[in-house]
Amino acid sequence: MPVVSKKSKRIAPSNYAIGVFDSGLGGLTVVKEIIKLLPNEDIVYFGDTARVPYGTKSSESIVRFSIDNANVLMSKKVKMIVVACNSSSSYALEVLKKKFNVPILGVIEPGAQKAVKLTKNKKVGVIATSATVGSGKYLEALQNIDKSIKVISVACPLFVPLVEEGWANNQITADVAGLYLKNLKKENIDALILGCTHYPLLKTVISKVMGKKVALVDSAKEVAHQVEMMLDQRKNRRKTKQKARLRIFVSDKPQSFMRIAKSFLGCKIDEISCIKMM
Ligand code: DGL
Repeated sequence: MPVVSKKSKRIAPSNYAIGVFDSGLGGLTVVKEIIKLLPNEDIVYFGDTARVPYGTKSSESIVRFSIDNANVLMSKKVKMIVVACNSSSSYALEVLKKKFNVPILGVIEPGAQKAVKLTKNKKVGVIATSATVGSGKYLEALQNIDKSIKVISVACPLFVPLVEEGWANNQITADVAGLYLKNLKKENIDALILGCTHYPLLKTVISKVMGKKVALVDSAKEVAHQVEMMLDQRKNRRKTKQKARLRIFVSDKPQSFMRIAKSFLGCKIDEISCIKMM
């Protein structure tokens, strides 16, 4: 369950948008699921394309960037913020929850909850950026739910640039996956958390290496369900029947983002503009 009580956060008007941010385009995987589940909600997305990647940065930088991103979303009138970036969720979630007076949802807990539901042998793998693995947040979230779960985490830093290069399904990526996942394969895990926004796009390659018995956990769907629960708990669903709007803001190169977002989401984008970050 989302851990936001009605008392702790102001309830913003229900016609305000759902705010989502990521370091770049990976968070669109979460947007896609939110649109599927909650087609009547306005969404404002911010992708920090000028400062991506976050997964190789220090915790201080990730926290600072995340606060900037949340400020951008707040200025666009949002009723909640989804931190659709694992690296930001790992380091900045608590700071954001203290600093901003709307509910804030990260991607770590939903992913961990789903993995615990799926694992039978209680051996769960986590693959993520170096920042996310270094934070130990997935381990903490998994063992908070069930202490007996064994967690094996592996950083796969080359996966993000491979996806950004559009090489999700070629031989080089398959070779890199084979190397990164070689030891994990020997651990007999039966659930593997894709702990980075870009990794769902590598599902085919990862699944080929890990085999059919390992369930791949993509937290995007789970996050969308928690957004729905949070809005329902707070009676904060958008009520108007007017068509919902999707507005996208990025910190660099809006046109190339627009092309990728349009083809990935397959829906109309009502606005896309650039916001320069300091
Ligand atoms: N969005 C980031 C994450 O989920 C991946 C890309 C990056 O390193 O910024 O950790």
